[in-house]
Parts: sequence; C-alpha cells; structure tokens
Amino acid sequence: MARYSEEQIRALGLAREALPKHVAIIMDGNGRWAKQRRLPRSAGHRAGVDRLRGIIRMSSDLGVASLTLYAFSTENWRRPSDEVGTLMALLIEYFTKEIDELFANGVRIRIIGAYEDFAAPVRAVIERAMKRTEANTGLNLNIALNYGSRAEILRAANLAMRQALAEGKREITADMLEACLYTAGQPEVDLLIRTSGEQRASNFLLYQISYAEFLFPAEYWPDFSDEAYLAALRAYGRRSRRFGGLEEDA
Ligand code: FPP
Repeated sequence: MARYSEEQIRALGLAREALPKHVAIIMDGNGRWAKQRRLPRSAGHRAGVDRLRGIIRMSSDLGVASLTLYAFSTENWRRPSDEVGTLMALLIEYFTKEIDELFANGVRIRIIGAYEDFAAPVRAVIERAMKRTEANTGLNLNIALNYGSRAEILRAANLAMRQALAEGKREITADMLEACLYTAGQPEVDLLIRTSGEQRASNFLLYQISYAEFLFPAEYWPDFSDEAYLAALRAYGRRSRRFGGLEEDA
C-alpha cells in the first residue's frame, strides 16, 4: 500500500490540505441491508466486515492520520445473544485474517472501549493485534469495542482527578482530561460519517466530535463503497470550517 501522490489525490477530486486528519464512522445499516435481501442479520454483519478493507486502505493511502470505527457499543449487549455471538466470532475472524496485511501496511491498531469485559478468546486476538502493530507509524486505526462516550469521559475525568490529587492540584485542566481519553495524542475528529441515513451521534466520541463536520450518507454500511467514501471526503472538502470564528477572508 503506497501513499497517494499529490497528483493522484487531485485526480480523485480531492486536495490534500482539505482532507480530514481524523475520520470517525458509525457503520450503521447491516441489519437492514440483510433484510432487504431476505438474509439473516449475521450476513449483514459479515458484509459489513468485508467493507472494512477498502475503507481502511483508502484512508491509509490518502494519508488520513486516524480512522475510528464504531464496531460494538456498550448498548449492543442488549441484542439477542446469537447476534452478539456472531459479532464476537466476526471480530476474532477479522483480526486473525487481516492482521498480517494491516501490519504490512503500517497500520497501528488501538481498541477503544472497555474490551476487558469480552471473553478471553476475543481479548487475546485484539491484544495480540495491538501489541503486534504498536510500533507502526501509518494510519491509527481505532476500533471502538464495548465503547460508550459518556463512560469514556467519566473514566478520563477520574484518571485525571487521581493524577491531580497525586500532584497536589485542586483542579484538572482540559489538557489533563484529553490526555486520559482513549484517543489521547490523536487529532480531534474532523469528519463523522454515519451510514444508513440515521442522524444521531449515539454516544460516540462526544468530546472528540465537538467541531466535526457530520455527514449522513443514505447507503447501508455494506453498500458504502470506496466511491461513496470518496464522495463523502469531497463533500467534507467543500465545507467551510470556522471553529466558532469568521471566514478567513470575511
Ligand atoms: C450497525 O448495524 C452495526 C453494528 C452494530 C455492528 C458493526 C460491526 C461491524 C461492521 C463488524 C464488526 C467489526 C469488526 C472490526 C470486525 P445494525 O445491525 O444496527 O443495522 P440496522 O440498524 O440496519 O439493524
């Protein structure tokens, strides 16, 4: 996997300076994709996993610094146990099959969320994947597992508070809090994509998306093609981001 040159990026209708540094994706619509085809929901999740390769590759080739994918929320435990089982089996299969290619492409895998609650075989593959790729310097691939943003912020506040107490301080600062988020050291989210037309943040990266642009493409996640991703990146590039200020040339 080679990084695209300036010309290649332009040929895709994009500009390097207008690309997001951090893209976050809520991969929604696997169930509806399957229903549309009269297939079991598990087939939708499998088709969803198959989409990861293209999106990760494109992000990496374009030089996006971080890609955060919502794979399993703290609320997903409420799904029927066979569906939870399917998702866990897919996770194991994914990390087992894809790790060599991810490693070869310089991808660094981080799991964000309370993955310690998962069963031992799942923990084992994800810990192996994180360890194996920890020295990689390419795309930061954050996979949110048993993730909820409120829980993340609370955890970070407690960690920062403990640090403050240990240093004899009475208050925590934004820098201290941010250093305790799972995404510490990574750029803030520039672009949040939620597929399937749903328009909700669903407890995903609430602190990190403060100034993000939101896009809600209609495609179900398994149908979210490389071309649809490029279209989203082009739409992002056309947005004017002011971060609460005024247009630069206003
Ligand atoms: C939302 O679709 C999708 C999920 C809850 C799971 C997303 C997981 C994957 C794509 C695969 C697992 C990831 C890895 C990293 C191997 P939905 O089931 O809520 O769809 P619906 O709203 O149409 O029912």
